[in-house]
Amino acid sequence: GTKKVGLIVGSLREHSFNRIIAAAIPELEESISFEPISIADLPLYNEDLDHGDGPEPVQRYREAIKRVDGIIIVSPEYNSGIPGVLKNALDWASTPSKTAALRKKPVGLVGATPGVKGTIQSQQQIRQTLEAIQAYVLPFQKMYISQVMDKVDVERRVLTDETTRKYLKRYVQQFILWIDQVHTLD
Ligand code: FNR
Repeated sequence: GTKKVGLIVGSLREHSFNRIIAAAIPELEESISFEPISIADLPLYNEDLDHGDGPEPVQRYREAIKRVDGIIIVSPEYNSGIPGVLKNALDWASTPSKTAALRKKPVGLVGATPGVKGTIQSQQQIRQTLEAIQAYVLPFQKMYISQVMDKVDVERRVLTDETTRKYLKRYVQQFILWIDQVHTLD
């Protein structure tokens, strides 16, 4: 059947540039069904809360990840690293270790910033975290979006820059191939 890919945005900001980028992905690749997976209502990670199925928002979040064939994370960089809200969400998807939602899940990384370095350091940290969780992060292709304010129409919330649309589409296509390659590993 049609592949399903979950989209996680690493910013809670309503007018987030990264949310605009994530929203552009479904229209670039229409053979896939995309589903936003919110991290906004997750509690702060606390082992005391992490027993049984966990708190209700955590259960819904983990089930949403388990239902999809892969996840694309679209995240900003904070202080040269991973935003706390995203790290919190990744930690919730890392337990219980044997059945963790992100374990063996194909993951793609995209990041946008008004700065010039395209969230390189944030993506390195996200990759390191996902490696610890034993997720399968797309290894070679990278998708960095710098000076994002010149590439989107904030009012209409659309990715307008044609070059970025082309690279993002190519990245998503590579990620879809990666999902099939990962299945041959199991
Ligand atoms: C930032 N920003 C930022 N940008 C960057 O490229 N490298 C960085 O290290 C940081 N550090 C940083 C720390 C904090 C606390 C904030 C609030 C912001 C700027 C950041 O890229 C910008 O605010 C983006 O617009 C955030 O992404 P969203 O919310 O637009 O998706």
